[in-house]
Amino acid sequence: MLAPRSPALAVAITAAFLVTGCSLIPTAGATGGAATAPHGSDGTGPITFATGKLDTGYLQPLINQWNKRHPAQKVTPIYLPDDSDDQYAQLVTNLQAHSSVYDVMSLDVIWTAEFASNGWITPIDPSVVPAGQFLRPAVETAMYQGHLYAVPFTSNAGLLYYRKDILAAAGVSPPRTWAELAEEAATVAPRYHIGGYGGQFQAYEGLTVNFAEAVQSAGGSLLSDGNSVVTVDSPQAIQALQFLVSGFRAGWIPRAALSWNEAASQRAFEAGKLLFLRNWPYVYGDASVAGPGNVVAGKFGVTMLPGLHGPGSSTLGGANLAISAYSQHQATALAFIRYITSQASERYILIRSALPPVWTSLYSQPALIARFPFLPVLKQAILTAKPRPALIDYNQFSLAISSAVHQALAQRQPVSATLSQLSAELRQIIRSD
Ligand code: GLC
Repeated sequence: MLAPRSPALAVAITAAFLVTGCSLIPTAGATGGAATAPHGSDGTGPITFATGKLDTGYLQPLINQWNKRHPAQKVTPIYLPDDSDDQYAQLVTNLQAHSSVYDVMSLDVIWTAEFASNGWITPIDPSVVPAGQFLRPAVETAMYQGHLYAVPFTSNAGLLYYRKDILAAAGVSPPRTWAELAEEAATVAPRYHIGGYGGQFQAYEGLTVNFAEAVQSAGGSLLSDGNSVVTVDSPQAIQALQFLVSGFRAGWIPRAALSWNEAASQRAFEAGKLLFLRNWPYVYGDASVAGPGNVVAGKFGVTMLPGLHGPGSSTLGGANLAISAYSQHQATALAFIRYITSQASERYILIRSALPPVWTSLYSQPALIARFPFLPVLKQAILTAKPRPALIDYNQFSLAISSAVHQALAQRQPVSATLSQLSAELRQIIRSD
């Protein structure tokens, strides 16, 4: 267990703010010895922070603030690729070699079981994490076998972005059901010469997420509770995949979407080429700033994902911060994690990059709601979102799903054959988990 070994580690992270230009940067107010202790055997010293680079505009200002206060414990960011699968590959290659190149790692919520069971990340003393003030589903993603292995950092839930200018001109409301989504995407979008609906349909983790959301939104699941029975060939799952396939077949999902990840689908929406987009909340921040490539600022709205009979169900996403078991400076790593997950830092990260905080209280602050009107919807989406199965072999499980689903979306294989074959593959994978 990584317990605070000295008062220096049990520092309180103060939430003072400096006003810098128009943005609020929290001070890295760790007081006491941690800020000044010489590095060496006490676990303090310079560290690295590995994180995917999509939407990390918030990071350098926070790191600068920390580094100013902690000259002997400087943090250097290491940017990983955009896609979750590529980040995973890079982290795993290093950890398998017991490399100490990463001290703090931003881990997708789906990796906790594998990283913890392999001994790649250090358990965290729960008494140093204000878990009671965090959104409960986010905390659960950081646990493995009853122990905390990371500190929740950002949460995530899929939302539906829509062109409110176009829907208003067409006299229709944002869709609450798939039938409404399909109808509006098929009839309204063509009048404006744009695509109907887009999501993340490239064969990678994003597609597993989009497929899981469709299945859940029809009342199905990937696995039974307790992860012991594969349920991807249920009538609900078949209906979900058929719905997406029908979108590609009828053309209200553009064929190009077969190669879209988060960033590519976001670009299509911002370029004004899509009526509806399924994506994460970070897009709200980017799409609100007009600029080259973005013609939708002020012209879009956000709502819950639609489902078969009413509002749908999101997949729980997000990132947790973990300390590498091979880090030489674990005390600094923990102090930095406490700083960057503090309420003040998370408030700044929300304002700067629209990443969903894990602090429950930040969803009800009027000033924040004025800026991000979708916060109450987002909180609801996170609290009702479904986590992906916490499996040691999650990566293999998910690769099987995304490649099979991609085949069906590309209409290379019929839906029911795809799902019964996938079901057999997944049974093998969970048997060995
Ligand atoms: C986002 C989510 C993450 C998910 C990924 C899929 O980064 O936070 O949980 O796995 O998207 O592309």
